[in-house]
Amino acid sequence: MKRTLGTCYYPEHWDEEIWVEDARRMADLGLTWVRIGEFAWSRLEPSPGDLQLDWLDRAIDVLNDAGLSVVLGTPTATPPRWMLDKYPDMIALDADGKPRGFGSRRHYCFSHAGFREESKRITRIIAERFGHKVAAWQTDNEYGCHDTVISYSDAARVAFQDWLQARYGTVEALNKAWGNIFWSMEYDRFDQIGLPNLTVTEPNPAHAQAFRRFSSDQVVAFNREQVDEIRAHSTAPISHNYMGRVTDFDHFAVGKDLEIATWDSYPLGFLEDRVGASPEHQRAFARQGDPDFQAFHHDLYRAVGRGRWWVMEQQPGPVNWAPHNPSPLPGMVRLWTWEAFAHGAEAVCYFRWRQAPFAQEQLHSGLLRPDSVEAPAMTEAREVASEIKNAPEVSIPCADVGLIFDYDADWAWAVQPHGAELSYFGLVLDHYRALRRAGLNVDILPPDTQNFDDYKLVLAPGLMHLPDGLRRALEQTKAHVAYGPRTGARDQDFRMPVPLPPAICGLDVTVARLESLRPDCPIPLAGGGAVQGYFEELETGIAAFLSTESGMPVAITSDNRSYIGSWLDTDGMDRMIQELCTLNNIQTHALPIGVRIRRTETEEFWFNHCSTSVETEIGPLAPASVTRRSL
Ligand code: GAL
Repeated sequence: MKRTLGTCYYPEHWDEEIWVEDARRMADLGLTWVRIGEFAWSRLEPSPGDLQLDWLDRAIDVLNDAGLSVVLGTPTATPPRWMLDKYPDMIALDADGKPRGFGSRRHYCFSHAGFREESKRITRIIAERFGHKVAAWQTDNEYGCHDTVISYSDAARVAFQDWLQARYGTVEALNKAWGNIFWSMEYDRFDQIGLPNLTVTEPNPAHAQAFRRFSSDQVVAFNREQVDEIRAHSTAPISHNYMGRVTDFDHFAVGKDLEIATWDSYPLGFLEDRVGASPEHQRAFARQGDPDFQAFHHDLYRAVGRGRWWVMEQQPGPVNWAPHNPSPLPGMVRLWTWEAFAHGAEAVCYFRWRQAPFAQEQLHSGLLRPDSVEAPAMTEAREVASEIKNAPEVSIPCADVGLIFDYDADWAWAVQPHGAELSYFGLVLDHYRALRRAGLNVDILPPDTQNFDDYKLVLAPGLMHLPDGLRRALEQTKAHVAYGPRTGARDQDFRMPVPLPPAICGLDVTVARLESLRPDCPIPLAGGGAVQGYFEELETGIAAFLSTESGMPVAITSDNRSYIGSWLDTDGMDRMIQELCTLNNIQTHALPIGVRIRRTETEEFWFNHCSTSVETEIGPLAPASVTRRSL
């Protein structure tokens, strides 16, 4: 794999006279990729059927002539205003039934047939016209960003009813599967079934989970329609730019239709608005970003892209959209770029080329200031460009440890969290953090993995519904499997199975009772650490390797299977990971706070995410720095 750099550019934002100079400066900087076009629909088609494609043709030529390869985005995240006159009901409705109005972006419902036709049409038009001159494609922009997967529109309701009919066949089967006799919720016909919003108290979790699955399927279908249009006219690889901690659709399912997964990495914005860290942690890493959140997504999207992935948008300085928007410490833009490369990114593209002095993102930095003078990130991008220029190709080895991530489990936890602070994403991230504190490479694995034998250890926390295929693959592997809390807690229709969970073949353990805990009521473990948030009382004849101070079992191992029935705090998690690594001959390094290691086949990177110098076993690491050693 070769490492490359790029940027995101909006030719339609600038006078045509400066395109040539911009392209020259990009190439001089050492960039090779430019992504364009993803919000330009109103300029490509100012009124219905009035196609104005020549300017985009010229822009692509200017960039290609400077030696830059173009990623062209389909413009469907920003349907123009005229389309709302044609289809007033194409906008999504929120959970309160209110329309999500025009005036920003992503104002469409995935289920609206008219909009779906418009999306296919504009995709076909640009694929036909530009298919031979672009080097890669991006479908739409950030599915799900701004909470836009789930729509409670009429179009969604009708499509949901069809989806249910295809899945259950008869309304009697649906009533039985969902347990609709509870509270007399039985239906006579599919067309009586509404969406699970605006109910007096909570809707049936089976209903809510089915709607989540349907909503995800709509994203997959929408994306596939664009892919089919593009493939008819272009052989260039197709990607989509996913977001950080947007889990409302199954990215693995979308990714199956694409050659490359990309994502948009905004470390400082994310630490402010979605990581879910304590105020102390936010303060300590305010100008560096969380040490694990980006890496987690790098590993996740490497799995979604089946090895091929990019950062399509890299934060280059302060952003405009988080509660607070600090500047990164000097060195962080280089560190973030190298961290992506160390996890296998083929390309890192900075968002954006020039800061826009108008509209919503005026306060979002770019590589250039609005006056075209270089912004601080430019120096660090130039440094990376020279570092990767003549570097040999690298490959990414299989890690010792695999960690399963399942979007369906994330929806199940959201539908029935049982405790206000509990989320599947948070649980998996806590496991990932512990593995990284132990200095380990981690592979994130999709739930349809057939064979886990390449791994010494597989962690499977929180898989509320364990489909038969996954259950079998986990039972059959020679890897050590550590199942986590809520494993197999519900069947496919959100019913509690009997025999009671986790019902793991060969492991004598039953969850006899469970509880959620207030954040200020942890249960201490004997020997250090605690259970936080969620606790399962386990019935087991197996001796526990972690138990509560009062002697209740928390984590057990028998042969190469373990069950950990609770959510552990940092110390408890570290003890659990250390025990499992020792059992499986996996070498760990206890790393100082904020320091992380990542290995490729030939390199070992040490990243210091701290704002101060840190002493490590390879010597002192400067603040916000990367040290690369050959192996
Ligand atoms: C991303 C988006 C970009 C831009 C950027 C600002 O979510 O894809 O278009 O809005 O955020 O940080």
